[in-house]
Amino acid sequence: MGSPESRFSAQVERCFSRGASAYPRSATLQAAVAMRLARLARPLDTALPSGPRADLGAGSGLLSRALETQLTDAPLLRLDACAALLEQEQPPQRALQRLWDLNQGLPQELEGAALLASSFALQWLEQPALQLSGWCKALRPGGALVLAVPCSGSFQIWHHTAERAGVPCSALPLPDPTTLLETAAAPLALHHYQLLRFSRPNRGARAFLHQIKTIGAQASPAARLQPGQLRQLIRHWPGPEHAIVWHVLVLVGQKR
Ligand SMILES: C[S@@+](CC[C@H](N)C(=O)[O-])C[C@H]1O[C@@H](n2cnc3c(N)ncnc32)[C@H](O)[C@@H]1O
Repeated sequence: MGSPESRFSAQVERCFSRGASAYPRSATLQAAVAMRLARLARPLDTALPSGPRADLGAGSGLLSRALETQLTDAPLLRLDACAALLEQEQPPQRALQRLWDLNQGLPQELEGAALLASSFALQWLEQPALQLSGWCKALRPGGALVLAVPCSGSFQIWHHTAERAGVPCSALPLPDPTTLLETAAAPLALHHYQLLRFSRPNRGARAFLHQIKTIGAQASPAARLQPGQLRQLIRHWPGPEHAIVWHVLVLVGQKR
């Protein structure tokens, strides 16, 4: 049976596995954020100590490859719990991958890391702030954290529509950006932090839910909506004048 947490973790892995082949061409926001993070990390290039570098929740490697084009030296170890997503990368990157459940913390080999990067992955973990604190601890002095994570405040359209429709909101609960920022600000000197607001066209509830499912990001600890509830949600969903909005915390810092 397993605990509710391990069942959710398995659900996350199953969903991403199903969406794996579509992920590289469909995850356009994630690709844009990976490029932005890599540009933000570029000034750190000569300032980084030597030591292990990793992309946590690397998926198909969007962020790893973006960082490798901006930074010289060592490539990044790609850690992820979803084998099918890791398999979207070709050799030689396949040699840099490690199947790993980040809910267990980091593997021993990342103690004293020089660079820990992660994009759109922390929100899937059971305790994002606790894991983030562990990532900061694992960095060696001068080591850098490069992070992007969608936060609470995203998808107001979904939350408000569910409320008006009188149905549960089955969105993944997202972490509070202030808590994450405070967690990182204590051990790190922050070079950059920003809560970015990405607005995407609203083509209706069906199209929105379909887009999430296409990339395998539909897992949620909330119960799935019954067909009648889904119809209610679709009926109450507002028109294109209301955009789909993501709030993404972006942060670059170095261990003191
Ligand atoms: C939206 S994808 C982001 C992938 C990549 N970082 C990017 O920006 O394209 C979220 C990733 O987090 C991974 N993930 C979720 N829970 C995880 C866990 N417990 N341990 C390791 N990886 C996990 C998923 O398998 C998936 O690859």
